[in-house]
Amino acid sequence: MTPPVTQQASAPQILARCRELVRPALGRAVRRLHPWHAEIAAFSLGWDGPDGRAAPGAQGKGVRQALAVLGAEAVGGKAQSAVRGAVAVELIHTFSLLHDDIMDGDETRRQRATAWKAYGTGPAVLAGDALFALAVQTLADAPGAHCAPAVRLLAGTLNDLVRGQADDLLFESRPWTGPDAVQPHEYRLMAEHKTGALLGCAAGLGAVLGGAGRTETDALTAAGRHLGIAFQAVDDVLGIWGDPEVTGKPVHSDLRRRKKTYPVLTALAAGGPAALQLGALLRTGGRLDDGAARRAAGLIEQAGGRSAAVAEAHRHLESARACLESVALAPDAIAEFLALLPYFVERTV
Ligand code: IPE
Ligand code: MG
Ligand code: MG
Repeated sequence: MTPPVTQQASAPQILARCRELVRPALGRAVRRLHPWHAEIAAFSLGWDGPDGRAAPGAQGKGVRQALAVLGAEAVGGKAQSAVRGAVAVELIHTFSLLHDDIMDGDETRRQRATAWKAYGTGPAVLAGDALFALAVQTLADAPGAHCAPAVRLLAGTLNDLVRGQADDLLFESRPWTGPDAVQPHEYRLMAEHKTGALLGCAAGLGAVLGGAGRTETDALTAAGRHLGIAFQAVDDVLGIWGDPEVTGKPVHSDLRRRKKTYPVLTALAAGGPAALQLGALLRTGGRLDDGAARRAAGLIEQAGGRSAAVAEAHRHLESARACLESVALAPDAIAEFLALLPYFVERTV
């Protein structure tokens, strides 16, 4: 008799399953906050209030919480065991976005005003701090032996995250060309810190809470970090060529602010006429206007920056796959994990 063929869940189905699993606990966590912070957190999470539902298009994709759930399942744990870790990473993610939108001066996210635009900078900073504290508390309350490794993993992640954000900001005042220009390998390390660390933490926390040993936890953490770099490279691409109706972020905002993103850096490093014109355009002072940003986007593409960023994302996807295949993990869960991987480069939102 042939065994029944089980249909592999699609990436949107996997993400939805994990979001639904985590949502009640995330709601309970948010309701523990000061009511003002709970309101700002709910707004940032795309809900219509701390007890509310997600507004269409306004909630996050949920990749971090999915990595936590899949991490636990990959090591043979129950999905439920990862919920505390998934809540913690979503809280940290929300905190980091609240503060990041202030640093980047961005006024729109997930089709909504950013929290600092809607509530003011002071309240948004404070709400971010409250979410940070709640995430630590969430893991500090983990039972027994899981508590210390979980908190340790989160602490290291936070250290990396702020380090990455610092480099991201410092890159803004570095020159575009010449010996002090930001090199693609510096960008890669920055992206690993600012974005990769939290995705790695998500998968690693899932493993810790699912009862894994050191080897499995390290492999899952490393896989998540590679996925984070891929995620960031694609984020940079979407920031230039994404459809703002889909991404929920304003188009060209990185370019207008002259952010040193991977497509721009690799385009400049490529040399040739398009790279030279791009360098000249970027070296003019102030914010780029709409026309200049559109021209810059065209030159980046001509110089190969877009395809280089997509290739970079694919390379890290393959490294993530290699990490997952380097240790013995639960076959069904790993099949699902692998089914989610292409989403990291194919996403449009
Ligand atoms: C966000 O980086 C990373 C953190 C919040 C730590 P970006 O600034 O590149 O991301 P978006 O485009 O605002 O989401
Ligand atoms: Mg930003
Ligand atoms: Mg930023």
